[in-house]
Amino acid sequence: MAETPQTFWESWWVRLQALKNVPQLVRIVWDSGPAVVSGGLASRLLVALLPVAVLGVSKRILDAIQAHFQGHPLPAAFWWFVGAEFALASFGAILGRAIGYFDSLLSDRFSRHVSILVMEHASRLDLSSYEDSAFNDKLERARVQATDRIGMIQALGQVLQQALAALSLSAAIFWFSPWLLLLLVLAVVPAFLGETHFAFLGYAKDVRQTPVRRQLDYLRVLGSSKESAKELKLFALSGFLVGEFTRLSNQIFGENVSIARRRFLFGTPLSLLSTFAYYGAYAYVIYRTVNGELTWGTLQLLTGAIAGASLNIQNIFSTFSSIADQSLFLTDLVNFFQVTPKVCSKKDALPAPRPIRQGFVFENVSFAYPGSERRVLDRLNLRIDRDERIALIGENGQGKTTIVKLLTRLYDPTEGRILLDGIDLREYSVEDLHGEIGVIFQDFMRYEMSARQNIAVARIQVSPDGAAQDDAIREAAHKSLADEVIANLPQGYDQLLGRRFSGGVDLSGGEWQRFALARAYLRDAQLLILDEPTASLDARSESEVFQRFAELTQGKMALLISHRFSTVRMADQIIVLENGRIVEQGSHQQLIALGARYAGMFELQAASYR
Ligand SMILES: Nc1ncnc2c1ncn2[C@@H]1O[C@H](COP(=O)(O)OP(=O)(O)O)[C@@H](O)[C@H]1O
Ligand SMILES: [Mg+2]
Repeated sequence: MAETPQTFWESWWVRLQALKNVPQLVRIVWDSGPAVVSGGLASRLLVALLPVAVLGVSKRILDAIQAHFQGHPLPAAFWWFVGAEFALASFGAILGRAIGYFDSLLSDRFSRHVSILVMEHASRLDLSSYEDSAFNDKLERARVQATDRIGMIQALGQVLQQALAALSLSAAIFWFSPWLLLLLVLAVVPAFLGETHFAFLGYAKDVRQTPVRRQLDYLRVLGSSKESAKELKLFALSGFLVGEFTRLSNQIFGENVSIARRRFLFGTPLSLLSTFAYYGAYAYVIYRTVNGELTWGTLQLLTGAIAGASLNIQNIFSTFSSIADQSLFLTDLVNFFQVTPKVCSKKDALPAPRPIRQGFVFENVSFAYPGSERRVLDRLNLRIDRDERIALIGENGQGKTTIVKLLTRLYDPTEGRILLDGIDLREYSVEDLHGEIGVIFQDFMRYEMSARQNIAVARIQVSPDGAAQDDAIREAAHKSLADEVIANLPQGYDQLLGRRFSGGVDLSGGEWQRFALARAYLRDAQLLILDEPTASLDARSESEVFQRFAELTQGKMALLISHRFSTVRMADQIIVLENGRIVEQGSHQQLIALGARYAGMFELQAASYR
């Protein structure tokens, strides 16, 4: 969307453009429950026709009573009319309930349907999208749409109902005096323009405030989360956080008040105008009745129709303007659905080779993160042979994790290419490729689910509840030493992990990591990658885990990223990365003999252990 236009006409243009999203919304609404939507619409259409029917019947009744006082007998059907009026009123009450019923059903279905669409779409997107803050704003707003936009759908139904009611009532007024109708319509327009204008300013303000609100959210989470509690206490940070929160929310508050105030000042006179028009018409009708030109029944019908029509017309405008404004919000949802992944399988993608015959080759691979000029990798050449265990070392920020992201096609190289068995990675099916690579990232996930599920998620496509692969899960837990952790859990494999939900047991970093490791083992992947897995392990667990990893990957393809030389030594080949390039390469003995960077780093670390 264009950045928050401020002038009146600009704002209207943007609003009308946003209406083009309505058909897509209607589609989503329909898909979330065709029967419910039809039921709601049918009730609304019937309700819309009730007012004119009621007025018609009561006109008959009043006219008959008036005639009765003038000496005529009551018509034979008189009491039937009274009964009909009662029946219509009851029918209206029932329909009102029915609308409420369908609306609440639809609201549940719609938010479920949109939540699922958002989750499904989000899962297809590139990692780079998530690391982009503009996208995060969009995702944030899209996520809110899922639950918030139901008002718009009800508004769509309402506007239909109001239009039909206004039309039927207007026909009655028109039958009496076309000018009366015109007066009413004209009176409503200023109020409508005022309303929508301020609604738009409100939206523009919301868009502007999104970054601030994200900050507020962050502060709120920071100020009340388990992760931050330790530092918060020690640094006595909470006063500072509360201060920042107050400062930012005051900023938002100030803007909100200013819009509300303007809306009150300018919106009120405009809506008064409509009231004047209504009472003008009312007075005119009374005047003619007093003069004897209209019957009581016509007076009743017209005043009722004028009140009803003017109310409905006003409501149409305000409902419509709320639809237009809501559809501006919808622009975010639509934009979000329009973000397409760049990293995806080609149409006739190759299956990943099984077994891999040669291995991976980086050919002059350069990479810069989107939105950044700096080359994290600079014409890198690297081979990972099929039965080779490679260790990658280098200081922080040298691009080690980036290499893993490229291998797994979370990103594609900016220049150069990566080959698997001599074929560009981009030729293979992404899903297939992921199936052949098991990765444990530095920032691996801690699933707040059962111990079993924490492992089973690695092959959740195979068996969603993990039951069918129970043996495989136990084996993976055994390999990763997670079974030792599980043996100590009160409920074993069924133990809920993490503290988020009641009954959960939290684990130490190293224990969580064993679960991450078990997931990698469960995948039965041909390439195993451990990205600085030692960070949260104590020395003894580390040597256990790596001893095992070494055994398990004997003669297999593995990539190990670590700072600890005790770990690195076991690799068949060690690669030293600096400034996005390989500066040294060889076995431990060779690199020590070389006496350069690796040997220096090794000496330094060995000295610290002596
Ligand atoms: N998502 C990202 N967007 C922009 N820059 C990034 C991103 N991730 C990492 N970087 C930068 O790329 C460089 C290499 O990062 P990384 O591969 O994680 O290093 P390592 O794993 O060797 O510590 C770092 O300078 C880091 O700041
Ligand atoms: Mg890293």
